[in-house]
Amino acid sequence: MSASPPPEGSAATALARYWERVARAHAATDPLGAVCYPAAPSWLNRFFARSQLRAVEFMLRDVNLSDMRCLDVGCGSGRWSRWFAARGARVTGIDPTVEMLAVARASSPGLDLQRMSATAIDLPNESFDLVLAVTVIQHLLPEEQEVAVREMCRVLRPGGRLFVLDLIDRHDTGAVVYPRPPAGWIALYARHGLSLERFRGQEWVPLFRVLQFLQSSRKGAAALGSDPSAPSLFERLAKIPGAFAPLWPIVKLSEVLEPLCERALPGTWARHGCFLLRKSHPGIEA
Ligand SMILES: C[S@@+](CC[C@H](N)C(=O)[O-])C[C@H]1O[C@@H](n2cnc3c(N)ncnc32)[C@H](O)[C@@H]1O
Repeated sequence: MSASPPPEGSAATALARYWERVARAHAATDPLGAVCYPAAPSWLNRFFARSQLRAVEFMLRDVNLSDMRCLDVGCGSGRWSRWFAARGARVTGIDPTVEMLAVARASSPGLDLQRMSATAIDLPNESFDLVLAVTVIQHLLPEEQEVAVREMCRVLRPGGRLFVLDLIDRHDTGAVVYPRPPAGWIALYARHGLSLERFRGQEWVPLFRVLQFLQSSRKGAAALGSDPSAPSLFERLAKIPGAFAPLWPIVKLSEVLEPLCERALPGTWARHGCFLLRKSHPGIEA
């Protein structure tokens, strides 16, 4: 099955090309980097991935995944599909990016992984108990986000849950991201009949944010992330020997700071928000 291509020349096409380029360059050799920070050292991506894992474990701590029908939207190289399957869920993963899916299939034998876009999910209505999308919807254009949420809600059974992790920091200068504040994400989901059950922040990373601020004020925010076909900052840094070395002590310090931020700071101050939402039953007020 294939994703219906967006109109030639549209911004959506540029984003699709971005993911194809990233996946071709990185997915086979660095499957985690391809879905986190392409070309960054593995110790840096593992730091961010551990923070995401803590958030996922916290958010789903009392959800029994055994035998649940789960749809992993934008499954990338398949890490969350495998994580859910290891907990007994019956997982279907979808992603429109050919090379991403090839890597996911090679490393996830037995999982049902299909080429499909979140904006055109070719699966039956109400066929999943839980739909998840980790750092996927944030990368869609705002108008595509609306369509994707409608599609994810359509395939979710009444009473089923949606778990999403997306950027809430509107000042972030990362490449090809379209963040919303927490209230903006919650309103988007509410328009499609989903009500919030649980929210948690993820990634406070104050030291990284100071660096990002300095970088963007030096170059001008528009110079970063505006062209999806251009190599990212990390891809450019990877060509300079030793360029990542100054980040090593920052990661070490952040490993101590981050759990403290998780406990002490408001979730709305984090870079990302995790949202667990429930689809209402027809005729029952959310
Ligand atoms: C940041 S990666 C996250 C991958 C995975 N969820 C994870 O956390 O490991 C974003 C993923 O979204 C996928 N993607 C891009 N456009 C998409 C779309 N229209 N529908 C679904 N997935 C899409 C990309 O191919 C990529 O695999």
